[in-house]
Amino acid sequence: MKIAVYGASGYQGGLVLAELARRGVEPVAAGRDAARLEKAGAPWRVAAAGDHEGLVSAFAGCDAVVNCAGPFTVTGAAVVRAAIAAGCHYVDTSGEQLHVKQVFDTFATQAREAGVSVLPAATDGCVPVDLLARLLADRLGPLAGIVTVHAVTGGGMSRGSLRSVAETIDAIRAGGLIYSGGDWRPGGAARGEVRLPGRAETTAVAAFPVPEVVTIPRHVPVRYVAGMTEAALGERLNSPLTPEMIDSLPDGPGAAIRRAQRFTYVLDATGADGRRARGVVRGSDTYGTTAVIAVESARRLAAGDAGAGVLAPGQALPPEGFLDFLGAYGVRWSIEPSHISDLSDIS
Ligand SMILES: NC(=O)c1ccc[n+]([C@@H]2O[C@H](COP(=O)([O-])OP(=O)(O)OC[C@H]3O[C@@H](n4cnc5c(N)ncnc54)[C@H](OP(=O)(O)O)[C@@H]3O)[C@@H](O)[C@H]2O)c1
Repeated sequence: MKIAVYGASGYQGGLVLAELARRGVEPVAAGRDAARLEKAGAPWRVAAAGDHEGLVSAFAGCDAVVNCAGPFTVTGAAVVRAAIAAGCHYVDTSGEQLHVKQVFDTFATQAREAGVSVLPAATDGCVPVDLLARLLADRLGPLAGIVTVHAVTGGGMSRGSLRSVAETIDAIRAGGLIYSGGDWRPGGAARGEVRLPGRAETTAVAAFPVPEVVTIPRHVPVRYVAGMTEAALGERLNSPLTPEMIDSLPDGPGAAIRRAQRFTYVLDATGADGRRARGVVRGSDTYGTTAVIAVESARRLAAGDAGAGVLAPGQALPPEGFLDFLGAYGVRWSIEPSHISDLSDIS
């Protein structure tokens, strides 16, 4: 099996290459800059994101592409188009909600007709949360609503993540999309208080453009989906750094900082019959976990385990099986059947 990594010269791209090596998968390091790719430690091919034929040649003969070249809102669609043209299955490490929506809106037919599986947002945040939404619906039946909350302590952000924030700052300030009444629309900058697991006090949360708002309704019977993050994070991101300031930072958190980082993703679900349940995913090292998720997803797509088309995690991967696979990497998940949600306070 041969898997290309586009954006292989970047921080996340390097972690994905290391994970491919660990799993014994033959890599191709692809990107726009030969001098930087040469240092990636893998056979490399050069193609700029604007060069369709070049991208198709770079991906030729590969079973799948893992795209790590953010900001994805700028170049992601070109890489998806080229992967489909090359007959390669595709995953990316995007956390950008509008990119994920654009991939579903633009490439569903092309991917299906080409027999290619396309899985945007193969990340620590989107995949476990989307899969857990499926399991909540299996237990509660059709859902009236799901509200997800992301909380991350420690770790810091990579330069690439900061560039993605700067590129999508308008969507972040506006709170992103919600899913309601069968379609997606701007949700407004909702705020609220929620009791997060392991914390004595409630935590202030604010609407945030997370990708699972786009993916969950593709396979879960649900009337309403919204995504939130800790309000303190939203406030920090509200004044993005300038490109010069970002360029002067290290490429991303080092191994010790990554190990000390903790993430908690909470899903509060309400069934159509009023029953409630809470799903929780916890782990450490968002970037390392994303490398594991992106590589394992690409491997499974390349093995022909998913259907053709643009797919949500819950359409491409077995929910319980994949979450349990992540257990070996320190990701823990649970469903509490009778949790009374605090999120009714959100306005
Ligand atoms: N949970 C999540 O949401 C999550 C988790 C992990 C990662 N991510 C996302 O993954 C992305 C990558 O992060 P990172 O830290 O690896 O960034 P990075 O270190 O800046 O690397 C970005 C890579 O993309 C390439 N690239 C950037 N713009 C390009 C363009 N216009 N054309 C071609 N190639 C281009 C860069 O090439 P050069 O080396 O030539 O500059 C580099 O290889 C970010 O968007 C980040 O938010 C999201």
